Amino acid sequence: MPSFSHHCMTSHVTGKSVFINDIPLPKNALHAFPFYSPIALGKILSLNTEKSLQYPGVECIITAQDIPGKNQMGPVVHDEPCLAIENLEFIGQVIAVVAAQSREVAQKAASLIELEYEETETPIITLNDAMTQGKLLQPARRIDDGDAWEMMEKCDHVFQGNFYSEGQEHWYLETQSALCMPRENGEMKVFASTQNPSETQAIVAEVLGLSKNAVEVEVKRLGGAFGGKETQANHVAAWAALVAHKTQKPVKLHLDRETDQKITGKRHAFYSEYEVGFSKTGLIEALKVKMNSNGGAAIDLSMAILERALFHIDNAYFIPNLTVEGRAWKTNLPPNTAFRGFGAPQAMAVIENIVDRIARFLKLDAAELRLANFYSSHQPQTTHYGQLVGENPLAKIYEQIIRTSEYSQRRKQIHEFNSQNRWKKRGMSLIPVKFGISFTTSFLNQAGALVHIYEDGSVLINHGGTEMGQGLHTKMIQIVAQTFGISPERIRISSTNTTKVPNTSATAASSGTDLNGKAVENACVILKSRLEEAFRLKFIQSGGSLTFEKDTVLCHRFHITFAELANFAYKKQVSLSSTGFYKTPDLFFDRQEEKGKPFHYFAYGMSVSEVELDVLTGQHRLLRTDILHDAGKSINPVIDKGQVEGAFVQGLGWVTMEELKYSAKGALLSHSPDTYKIPTIGDIPEDFRVKLTDFTPQPDNIKQSKAVGEPPFIHGLSVFFALKDAVSAVLNQEVEPELNIPATSEAILLCLEKMKANMHRSE
Ligand code: MTE
Ligand code: HPA
Ligand code: MOS
Repeated sequence: MPSFSHHCMTSHVTGKSVFINDIPLPKNALHAFPFYSPIALGKILSLNTEKSLQYPGVECIITAQDIPGKNQMGPVVHDEPCLAIENLEFIGQVIAVVAAQSREVAQKAASLIELEYEETETPIITLNDAMTQGKLLQPARRIDDGDAWEMMEKCDHVFQGNFYSEGQEHWYLETQSALCMPRENGEMKVFASTQNPSETQAIVAEVLGLSKNAVEVEVKRLGGAFGGKETQANHVAAWAALVAHKTQKPVKLHLDRETDQKITGKRHAFYSEYEVGFSKTGLIEALKVKMNSNGGAAIDLSMAILERALFHIDNAYFIPNLTVEGRAWKTNLPPNTAFRGFGAPQAMAVIENIVDRIARFLKLDAAELRLANFYSSHQPQTTHYGQLVGENPLAKIYEQIIRTSEYSQRRKQIHEFNSQNRWKKRGMSLIPVKFGISFTTSFLNQAGALVHIYEDGSVLINHGGTEMGQGLHTKMIQIVAQTFGISPERIRISSTNTTKVPNTSATAASSGTDLNGKAVENACVILKSRLEEAFRLKFIQSGGSLTFEKDTVLCHRFHITFAELANFAYKKQVSLSSTGFYKTPDLFFDRQEEKGKPFHYFAYGMSVSEVELDVLTGQHRLLRTDILHDAGKSINPVIDKGQVEGAFVQGLGWVTMEELKYSAKGALLSHSPDTYKIPTIGDIPEDFRVKLTDFTPQPDNIKQSKAVGEPPFIHGLSVFFALKDAVSAVLNQEVEPELNIPATSEAILLCLEKMKANMHRSE
């Protein structure tokens, strides 16, 4: 099975995989480039495109006036113009699109567009600005469980504090791209690099004033997405489609890296304030948290992301009295968007920081304190939003990782190392993950498939999910191979296409395999019953149930190859094509009461990281990371392990090095790989031990597996808290480090300065 996953991989490493930018273009094709707002808040006074239009090679320039349909591209709420008309609300907001014979010409010509504008007010950039003088994107949300106010009074100890985490750039390898081809009768074909073909179809249809049946969106694969192409891939598709519609020529829009970084949304920065009450032994009894997110200039997915943050403030801990409020603020930045974890990492960082602080204060081992606060593995306990957690593998995973990571011995060694070294300090941390699986927008939990068996016995799968490197297509082929008992070589997967499977949800929320896998399996089950019909026609005397295995269908002494049976069925006029459908059962959520069952199940895991900090430079080495991650009965352990490793490294990038720097006027300063640092091969742990567990197969999920795309991102937090542990060791764990995300070398040095100053002040 593992050997099978490389058939897609070889085409990647040999450069044979086709991305949008590799599709050969017809001779008359045009290249588009966006012209965007240079200011974060103001008004357009005039726009002059004359010089730009005269530039050799330029074909046309479109503005809001050229939109035949609705000028909008907001995915959930229609609050985002496709092209700005008058108001400018962030640097990067697109005003016009230039089309020319090459991207270089289009880009050069875009720089010749003359824009007169007026800067009306001071833009709101930071969360701090937004919270003091800004506007909410939507009303606040609040979930209450128990009585945090009453309990707080009775607790042995109460802390107040705050925590912030900054945003993160997706840095998918393939930048945002789309290729639009006008077809007969006003129809439009779109090749897109989108996680959400149906929504790209909807937005393109809307701006062109067409119904959805006139727009076809096809996705072969994405060169990475990480949430960044859940909604914002719609934008480039809409801009390219508008030019293609106007010129009636094929139009490609493929952003260069710098423009992509400047104009697209990121992970949301969060700022949270909390009050926590706990017992002498460190049990958390009451918690109040107010979370704030920097939403940017339009809603995009900010409210769903905030909702997932509200649902994950407990992480793996049972907190009987909990009140959590969330606010998404409007700022003059590009609308922030989905990014692996979808608000959960931001919330989990807050509770983990609280637990970490309590442990330091009570002088307890932080891992043991975590264990003491976990949801019970046996007793039924519910979350603050009313979902039963029930039996879970937290205690078991804990016991195993403490043992295999040699936590106790290493804790002693670290202590010794730190007492002998003044300028180097080591730190270690264990971090648990409990991650809710399902779209929190319940109706999105549905998927469709269309499976064909050709009369030669080969199989073609269509399904609604998109392949972005996470291995979804490989898993779908495995599911079909297992269901039909045939070898994977007989099976191919087609591009994802809105004309094959309609009304699909984004491949997101880690649910691609869960949803599409069941839909594909369902289609196969229907086809198997038709093949059985044919089998009975062929072998009239056969009784009892059929077995599908080793490319053969058999029943006692009667047997036939899968290919022969397909051919026989075809000649007997049996349909060999079927759709399949799946919806996740029993999900509901009442947003008035803020209670329900938003998740089908939880995915769990734990990690232990150890770092060595250079106290003089703030730089660190990541000595070792152990991860134990619950993937249920993994469909493909090689892929899942890759997902865990990749997510962890992406997480450690967020918490230690990636830094979005904006000017006071809202210009992104770290907008290229030489100013924005993402992890490289040199940043992975020197000793990296990743293991999957199957402690809790998910009985009613596809092949009893569990979703694995986003949850392991949280393991990156173990590096942050290991660093905090090392920082704290500088002053013998006596002062709480005020460390936030990202803990860059600079931030660590500043934190140390502040700790020392506080220490002297209290002396
Ligand atoms: N893995 C790769 N290689 N590339 C990606 O873009 N996206 C992540 C995760 N793993 C991503 C990835 C995100 S944000 C999600 S939601 C899931 O994959 C989506 O795919 P799945 O639902 O099939 O796991
Ligand atoms: N995750 C990812 N994308 C989403 C979600 C979610 O929970 N809800 C709506 N879009
Ligand atoms: Mo993933 S952030 O749900 O695309």
